[in-house]
Amino acid sequence: MQVYPFEAVKPGDPMESYSPAISAYTMAFHHEGIYGDHVKRLNELVSRNSGLKNVPLTRLTSSFNDDVRYHAGGVYNHWVYFSRLSSSEKKVPDVLRKRIDACFGSFDRFMERLLGTADDLRGAGYVWLCEDRSHRLRIGVTTQQNTPDLSAMNPLICCDVWEHAYYLDRQNRRREYLTAWSRLIDWEKAASQLGQAGG
Ligand SMILES: [Fe+2]
Repeated sequence: MQVYPFEAVKPGDPMESYSPAISAYTMAFHHEGIYGDHVKRLNELVSRNSGLKNVPLTRLTSSFNDDVRYHAGGVYNHWVYFSRLSSSEKKVPDVLRKRIDACFGSFDRFMERLLGTADDLRGAGYVWLCEDRSHRLRIGVTTQQNTPDLSAMNPLICCDVWEHAYYLDRQNRRREYLTAWSRLIDWEKAASQLGQAGG
């Protein structure tokens, strides 16, 4: 559970190890410049409101205050994105593969839908694989810095589809980025979240 003061949690491997899928420059700019800025701004907002100091990040993402909700979303979404990347290829654990097969028919059909949904997302946002309360897996999108409904959904995987995640490396070739990102998914981490609260 993340509470104030928040920090930009580092990915599991060195920034340069995700290249060539994602360059070290994009990783550093994205992590320190974008994620780090959401952290800084959220900490400033919470530091001025003592009533928020012990409120978990997951609850701040549904704050009535627009600024708090936006930057809390930015912190949460980037935490899930960066924490589910692995520079070494991870096998999909059987427990997750069976759930994917049951919900989407096959792993290939699931990946087609996941990447197709990300490719079709209009504007800036995120694509998610979540587990719902009845333990079904769901693919969904959120725009801007909105998060999934964390009272009902347990996020397993998040793809950042804001242009800042790929434009420096691949300009407008979003599908190329999505394919590269899909090879970095930490399936073991995703599987370890099954049945857990989302953050
Ligand atoms: Fe981002």
